[in-house]
Amino acid sequence: MTVKIFDTPEVQDFLQAVSGFDQDGGSERAKQILHRLVGDLFKLIDDFDVTPEEFWSAVSVLNALGQGTQFGLLAPGLGFDHYLDMRMDAADAEAGRTGGTPRTIEGPLYVAGAPEIQGSGRMDDGTDTDGEAMWLTGQVRDTDGNPIAGAKVEVWHADSKGGYSFFDPSQSEYNLRRSIITDADGRYAVRSIIPSGYGCPPDSPTQQVLDLLGRHGQRPAHIHYFISAPGHQHLTTQINLAGDPYTFDDFAFATRDELVVAGQRIEDAAAIEASGFEGPFTQVVFDVELSATDTPELQVRHKRPRAKEDERDRASQLAGTATV
Ligand SMILES: [Fe+2]
Repeated sequence: MTVKIFDTPEVQDFLQAVSGFDQDGGSERAKQILHRLVGDLFKLIDDFDVTPEEFWSAVSVLNALGQGTQFGLLAPGLGFDHYLDMRMDAADAEAGRTGGTPRTIEGPLYVAGAPEIQGSGRMDDGTDTDGEAMWLTGQVRDTDGNPIAGAKVEVWHADSKGGYSFFDPSQSEYNLRRSIITDADGRYAVRSIIPSGYGCPPDSPTQQVLDLLGRHGQRPAHIHYFISAPGHQHLTTQINLAGDPYTFDDFAFATRDELVVAGQRIEDAAAIEASGFEGPFTQVVFDVELSATDTPELQVRHKRPRAKEDERDRASQLAGTATV
């Protein structure tokens, strides 16, 4: 069956009615966007001669994604998060906001309200003995190289099995999540463990979609950051650790060359003792440069559903996060 009906007046009128163009209520922007979205899908069905079986199996995948709160996981896998970053990069360039450490995707696993520490402290609860000890440190500077004291450095990462506290109920509350305030020299330093990379659950609807594309669902070991300071542009970024098989093959497209960091293994006994570790550890250094801005909305992270960000809207938080 190869029929083409999309361009007929009957279908075009139908699309207008579907989009509520003949109704006074609702949102004009929603009507315009739905008109484009549904129209593009109608045309796709025509062009690819999509069968009813194919259409309803797609609906079934969407239902499974929703049930598993996995849209926040599929979105980076299909490049939407990186595409939004590319648009924000382009907007910055157009406005002349150049310089500074590059942004990259937030992902769906941030949890608001992590304990705050001044300058330096510890992020792990000491129970993950499979994880290599890590000393994570760096300096926050402006684009002229001046240290920024009092900057807020929010860090979150996975454990040695690739799981995140809150989403992995076996971990203690806020394990591997901290909000660090930089010291007088703009420095932050925390003891933690080297995170493992992780993958989409093999039997998940997200992986089912990736399988259809012949793609894996793996991420390299990485560490997430939000960095902010008054008078500077808020930065959402993450570092990918060098040497992971997926460092340059991240299913979520978060890798940027400037954000690949090689850890340095410290085995010297005197250095171990001086830093307070019990044995060899890996030092990871990530310095950050923030661009200056006077615009208040650029100094804070953009809104989206995030776990514990708004306790009154729990359903929305979970919808925007993912069970992995
Ligand atoms: Fe992550």
